[in-house]
Amino acid sequence: MNKNVKPNPASLQDPVLRALRESAEPVSGEALAGRLGLSRAAVWKRINRLKALGYAIQGSPRRGYRLLGLPDKLLPQEIASGLQARLLKGPIHYFDTLPSTNDLAKELGVRGAPEGTLVVAEGQSRGRGRLGREWNSPPGVGLYVSVLLRPPLPPADLPQITLTAGVAVVRALRQAGGVTAGLKWPNDLVLAGKKLGGILTEMETESDQIRHLVVGLGLNVNNRQFPAELADLATSLALTTGRTFSRLRILQVWLEELESLYQRFLAREFAAILEEWQDYTVTLGRAVRVRQGAVEICGQALEVAADGALLIQTRSGEVVRVTSGEIAW
Ligand code: BTN
Repeated sequence: MNKNVKPNPASLQDPVLRALRESAEPVSGEALAGRLGLSRAAVWKRINRLKALGYAIQGSPRRGYRLLGLPDKLLPQEIASGLQARLLKGPIHYFDTLPSTNDLAKELGVRGAPEGTLVVAEGQSRGRGRLGREWNSPPGVGLYVSVLLRPPLPPADLPQITLTAGVAVVRALRQAGGVTAGLKWPNDLVLAGKKLGGILTEMETESDQIRHLVVGLGLNVNNRQFPAELADLATSLALTTGRTFSRLRILQVWLEELESLYQRFLAREFAAILEEWQDYTVTLGRAVRVRQGAVEICGQALEVAADGALLIQTRSGEVVRVTSGEIAW
């Protein structure tokens, strides 16, 4: 593993934080020290450390400490707190910044990390999109997260998992943000005609079996601006709605929905997931162009086949299967 990449110490569960979280009333330093078997000075040190992480903690000499607010960060203890997922719940590797969460998740996969391992960063310096593109990843406003999966399946199933992950994002945005995004084949999230996010799925195989795969989600959440070259193409939840969203909540619900859909996928229920994908898609029925290397296919997007491929009817009437590429209309 890259030796320069160190997990943020915030990944450690803090008993002082747990005690404050569990109490609606202020808790005195003395009571915290007694309950946790710490000295008063150690409690004070931990309180200051939590404040430095962004926790709003009110301290009054007579009444004690009270937790007033959480940091706008994707700290592991916050992700874990209240997360219903049983499989996709970590270990959580959290960083202020990383080159790419997918790169680290792939590395962890090779080193035998368990299914459900999560890599989360506040920002990325070399975030990667599909087709070798760069993924704009400014700190603190977007979601950049990668999940490690180990499905006992052949590589040909990868497109279906990508579609499944997209359905989970649409569900999460509805539940956690009250926003209905669309899906552009295969895995673009669109809102108000612009790109809101995307999924980069990458796998390692061994004798025609997936050894591990990484599902990387990039979502523009509270971005208020984009670089000039993206301004006409990209949007965020905040820019489209004028509201601010909890990245944490969206991430938690995505993990829960992804887990439940992934279980169904493993139980061979992809047909039902595909039906739901079709409810959300903005691709089918439209005139589309897909570039595949030097070749461009033009026609009408007819349907998505059971294996996740897009079927396009060209002007000559021929139906062409497309398994990768970028759609334009
Ligand atoms: C796309 O091109 O639509 C897919 C974008 C995927 C970006 C995410 S951000 C988290 C993860 N890490 C990366 O480097 N890429 C993915």
